[in-house]
Amino acid sequence: LYGDQVIVVSNREPYIHSRNDDGRIVVKRPASGLVTAVEPVMRACSGTWIAHGSGSADADVTDKQGHVAVPPDNPSYTLRRLWLSEEEERGYYFGFANEGLWPLCHIAHVRPIFREADWEQYLAVNKRFADAVVAEARTRDPVVLVQDYHFALLPRLIRERLPQATIITFWHIPWPNPESFGICPWRTEILEGLLGSTILGFHTPYHCQNFLQAVDRFLEARITREDSVVTFHGRRTKVQDYPISIHWEALSPEQRQAAVMARERLRASYGFGPEHRFALGVDRLDYTKGIVERFHAVEAMLAKHPEMVGRFTLVQIAAPTRSVLDDYRNFEQRVREQAARINERFAAPGRPEAIRLLVEQHGSESVFAHFRACDICLVTSLHDGMNLVSKEFIAARDDEQGVLILSQFAGAAGELTEALIVNPYHVDQTADVLYQAATMHPAEQGERMRSLRGIVEDFNIYRWAGRMLLDASRERNSAKTRD
Ligand code: G6P
Repeated sequence: LYGDQVIVVSNREPYIHSRNDDGRIVVKRPASGLVTAVEPVMRACSGTWIAHGSGSADADVTDKQGHVAVPPDNPSYTLRRLWLSEEEERGYYFGFANEGLWPLCHIAHVRPIFREADWEQYLAVNKRFADAVVAEARTRDPVVLVQDYHFALLPRLIRERLPQATIITFWHIPWPNPESFGICPWRTEILEGLLGSTILGFHTPYHCQNFLQAVDRFLEARITREDSVVTFHGRRTKVQDYPISIHWEALSPEQRQAAVMARERLRASYGFGPEHRFALGVDRLDYTKGIVERFHAVEAMLAKHPEMVGRFTLVQIAAPTRSVLDDYRNFEQRVREQAARINERFAAPGRPEAIRLLVEQHGSESVFAHFRACDICLVTSLHDGMNLVSKEFIAARDDEQGVLILSQFAGAAGELTEALIVNPYHVDQTADVLYQAATMHPAEQGERMRSLRGIVEDFNIYRWAGRMLLDASRERNSAKTRD
C-alpha cells in the first residue's frame, strides 16, 4: 500500500485552534488516546486527516475547503475540518456516540440512552463525512483509516461510493458481549456499516470474538473462524486484534537531565519530601476510568496503614470532558465530594493532603513531568479499550523506577503483565496492592519496569499501523487474484 493516498477520519481533531484572552491564536492538543496514537502515524505517512473542527479559532486558520497544514510548527500532512451544526453535534456526538454507544460498549453501569433523533443525526453526520472522504479522494482506491465509534456507518457509506477503496476501521473502545450489544435498537445497521471495511480492528481478541458473535446472532453472514473473516453480501471483512500503542522515543541526555530537574521541582511544588509517596492518576474525567473507586482504595489503604497518613498523596489529574452531559457533570461532583471527604478524614496538620484533585487539562510536558516525578501510576479503569496512559508512563520512565498499577479490565492488562494487576471494583485488594507498590524495593521496581519497557518499545504504534496495512494489502492482493 506504499505510495497510496491515505485518508484518516476521526471525530476528534489532532490540533485545536482557539483564541486566548488577548486575542492571540493558540494551538492545543486534545486529551484523546486516539489522537495520541494516530498522530505520529499520520506524520510519518502524510495524507489528509478529516475531523470535526472544534476550536473557537479553527475556522480562522483554514482555507475555504477547511484545509490547514499541520503540525503547525512542522507541517507534514493536511487537516481537513468539517463543521457541525449545534443540532448535529448534539445528536451525533453528545447523543448517539456518547450517551448511546459509549456506555453501551463500556458496560460501566451507566445505562445507554438511545433516541431516534440522535440516531438520525448520527446517520446524517456519517454521510457528511463520507462526502468529505469522496471529495478528498484523488484516486478510486485510496486507503481510508476510519477511527472509532463515532463512525460505525462510515465504512459502508464509503464502500458504496468508492468500491475499490481499502477501508481500515479501528474501534478504539471495547466491544461488548452480544447480550449487551443487542439492546441497541440499530444493532443491524451498525454491524452492516462496519462490514463495509476491508479490515476491522479491535484492541483484544476478546473484543473480536464479541463482534463475531454479534454478527453470528444478528446478521445473515458467513464467518470463517480460521482466518477470522466475515463474508457479507459477497464482500470480505477481516476482523483482527491490533493492540494500539504509542510513539516510542529514547530520551536525549539533555532531556534526561531536564527530567531529573523537573522531578525535583514538581515534588517540591507539591510539598513532597524525598520520603513522601507520590501516586498519580491521569485521566479524562470520565465515569469509565474508575476514579471514585481509586479514591476509595486510597482511603482503605490509609485506614489500614495509619503510618502512611500525611506521607502519601494521590495527585489526580482529571481533564474535564463532555461536560454538557448530565452523567459527566454528576460524575465530576461525586469525584469532588469523595476527594474532599477523604482529605478531611485523613487531614494531618502541616502535611500534604491524601488526594490532590486537579480538574484541568495538562499539556504533554506537564504530564511527562508528573510521570517522571511520581512513585506509582494508577490506571484503574472499570473498562477501557486499551488505555495509553499506562504505556506513556512506562515510556517516560527510562530511570527504570516507578510502579504501574493496572486494571484487569483495561486492554493493556493483556500485554503489560509485569504491572500490578487489580480488579478496581475490589477496593480492599486495590488498597493492598497500593501499599505493596508504596513499599516496593527499588530492585523489584527496576525488574518490572525493564520488562514493561521492552514490551512497549517492541510493540510501538508503527507496529500497530504496519500490521494493519500489511493485512489490508494481503486482502487487496487476494481480492485481485479472486477477481
Ligand atoms: C476516547 C475515544 C476517542 C476520543 C477520546 C476523547 O479515547 O476512544 O475517540 O477522542 O476518548 O474524548 P472526546 O469525546 O473528547 O474526543
